[in-house]
Amino acid sequence: PTSSVCVLDSKDAAESAPCAHSLDSIPGPTNWPLFGSLIELLLKGGLKRQHEALIHYHKKFGKIFQMKLGSFESVHIGAPCLLEALYRKESNYPQRLEIKPWKAYRDMRHEAYGLLILEGKDWQRVRSAFQQKLMKPTEVMKLDGKINEVSADLIKRIGRAQVNGKIDDLYFELNKWSFETICYVLYDKRFGLLQDSISNEAMDFITSVKTMMSTFGLMMVTPVELHKTFNTKTWQDHTAAWDRIFSTAKLYIDKNLKRQSNGKTGNFLCDIYHQSHLTKKELYAATTELQVGGVETTANSMLWVIFNLSRNPCAQAKLLKEIQDVVPAGETPRAEHIKNMPYLKACLKESMRVSPSVPFTSRTLDKDTVLGDYTLSKGTILMINSQAIASNEEYFDNGKQFRPERWLQEKSSINPFAHMPFGIGKRMCIGRRLAELQIQLSLCWILRDYEIVATDHEPVDALHAGTLVPSRELPVAFVRR
Ligand code: HEM
Repeated sequence: PTSSVCVLDSKDAAESAPCAHSLDSIPGPTNWPLFGSLIELLLKGGLKRQHEALIHYHKKFGKIFQMKLGSFESVHIGAPCLLEALYRKESNYPQRLEIKPWKAYRDMRHEAYGLLILEGKDWQRVRSAFQQKLMKPTEVMKLDGKINEVSADLIKRIGRAQVNGKIDDLYFELNKWSFETICYVLYDKRFGLLQDSISNEAMDFITSVKTMMSTFGLMMVTPVELHKTFNTKTWQDHTAAWDRIFSTAKLYIDKNLKRQSNGKTGNFLCDIYHQSHLTKKELYAATTELQVGGVETTANSMLWVIFNLSRNPCAQAKLLKEIQDVVPAGETPRAEHIKNMPYLKACLKESMRVSPSVPFTSRTLDKDTVLGDYTLSKGTILMINSQAIASNEEYFDNGKQFRPERWLQEKSSINPFAHMPFGIGKRMCIGRRLAELQIQLSLCWILRDYEIVATDHEPVDALHAGTLVPSRELPVAFVRR
């Protein structure tokens, strides 16, 4: 398919493509009145398999296509050159698709917005308040002590929870691990989620996040105002979940601020609060959104890397050797060690390529933008199909294979825009470094004590449920070394 040729070279496409075509000429799947491609998509396996359909459409239509699902119109891009073009033309305040149900809740309760839903100058102000602590490598490295405390608990938990090496609902255990870590970082509070008996407060907190996440999808595709007006069960559950999330978050944020006013320093949130001009409401909202943004994504990426290592024992053995070479026996792995572990970093990167957690992100264009051969008008919803690119043989030889070595070649021909699991540009994931350090350190802990083995070799599909989750309980076991 050559539906779109990227005109990139040195100049940007706006200058070099004076006769760029309009939206109407972009190819795409069937566009039936009222339904658009909805029926076709349902026949291809429905929303759970939408990521596969997107890969298929890129194969069929090329680097760019358009699609209508009911009244929802979007343009999809799936080529590194188009991502690069987008990146180079990015405005100061890039926007993602609105999460209306979250906004409706905040407006109703007179709460502020956080990074996931803020726009414009307010987004930039809040983003810069958190940017230094979360994106500067030396700052994130300081969090390794906290990450390690939770990793130690995870190892003990694996020891207790496994039966013949198998762990019942490994995904939930990893969700507890990432939840515990992010709470410890943000609120300086241990909830004890990896203990055998969990307090009601901790269980209630994690369940609220789960409920909130599972109830907003429906309100993204049906008008949230209707749910609110008719006080539907979905709306009730969603708002009750947010109420519980906010009340717990506020409780612990206030405790931290109080401790600081009593003279204690060096606290993650207090430092941010005092070094920025955020209001307390902004701090509450931004913190809760960091928390909800960081739990399932990190747990999911950890789950897939465990899976990929189980299916690739040679890579696992090589990784163990690197860990043993860099971290002396009996010593705790630290962020400083990770700097000297290229193979560990490559394993995570490769795992996120073959089994991404998030298959796409979005942008709402805030100005007319020329991408490749086409002029997209302001207001266009652009889907950035990172998975479609990362799984394309054109950009990765033997793309289905888990081969960490591909990231370590001296003369790499991999296009940097071909692998964007954390998104792109100014609005890319702010928790990226924290998530990477968390997964890398915990992998060191796990591999030193356990061999991860595959208990069968049947395929495991990925289904879209917000993140890409395995279609069945992972066939892995942890065998004590
Ligand atoms: C945004 C993925 C971990 C907080 C994003 C985006 C992606 C992503 C794809 C959208 C970026 C874009 O539109 O360009 C992931 C993955 C993670 C992860 C795969 C784990 C492996 C985390 C963690 C946190 C976090 C640990 C919290 C500390 C956020 C926030 C945003 C975001 C707040 C919105 C940023 C903004 O719009 O300014 N993430 N994320 N994420 N993520 Fe993550």
